[in-house]
Amino acid sequence: MTFTDLNELKADLEKNYQSFPLVEKPTDIIHGEGNEEASVMLIGEAPGYYESIERRPFVGRSGQLLRRVIGECGLPEEQVYISNIVKARPPDNRDPLPEEILAFKPYLDAEINLIKPKLIVTLGRFSMDKFLPEVKVSEVHGRLFKIKWNEQTLFILPMYHPAAALRATRVKESFIRDFSKIAKIVEWVEKASEGDEFAETVKEALI
Ligand code: URA
Repeated sequence: MTFTDLNELKADLEKNYQSFPLVEKPTDIIHGEGNEEASVMLIGEAPGYYESIERRPFVGRSGQLLRRVIGECGLPEEQVYISNIVKARPPDNRDPLPEEILAFKPYLDAEINLIKPKLIVTLGRFSMDKFLPEVKVSEVHGRLFKIKWNEQTLFILPMYHPAAALRATRVKESFIRDFSKIAKIVEWVEKASEGDEFAETVKEALI
């Protein structure tokens, strides 16, 4: 599935709204937000109550924490794009089901192909599973991975989900610490993209 830009992708999602689980009307779809030229793409789980009302990703309590931490980590706003693995709210904010993740997958993949982020930050285990199915967030958060995905090389930085950070002080401290490394990591990754040898060095340095 390919689109010329994000507007075309969003219009197509809404036009086909009836084919998606969790969606009864086009406005139930919460699109990704940010600059198509962003170098960092953050991928969360699914919108919650406030996101479904405001029709923006990450605007509830966990979103406020996330946006505050992004603001403090030295990344300019126009460098960040925020999306979700599932683009409509699961009832009672339950975990997304595998078939829901699968239904939105072609659109998330198309979003990644359009933005071509230098770095993908996964928030929580559902988005991490898309790229790194065999690891645990608690063991790898804040470490950089270089992977092959659909013939592309991607840099993935798994992070805790901000909702988990709100539930436990220790997790919140790790979440904030991991984010504080992002600007530096983006700088490294930009250089790493210029040559594989350097990329390996970066990987070694961070893992
Ligand atoms: N949690 C998510 O994973 N995504 C949102 O947009 C809001 C909360």
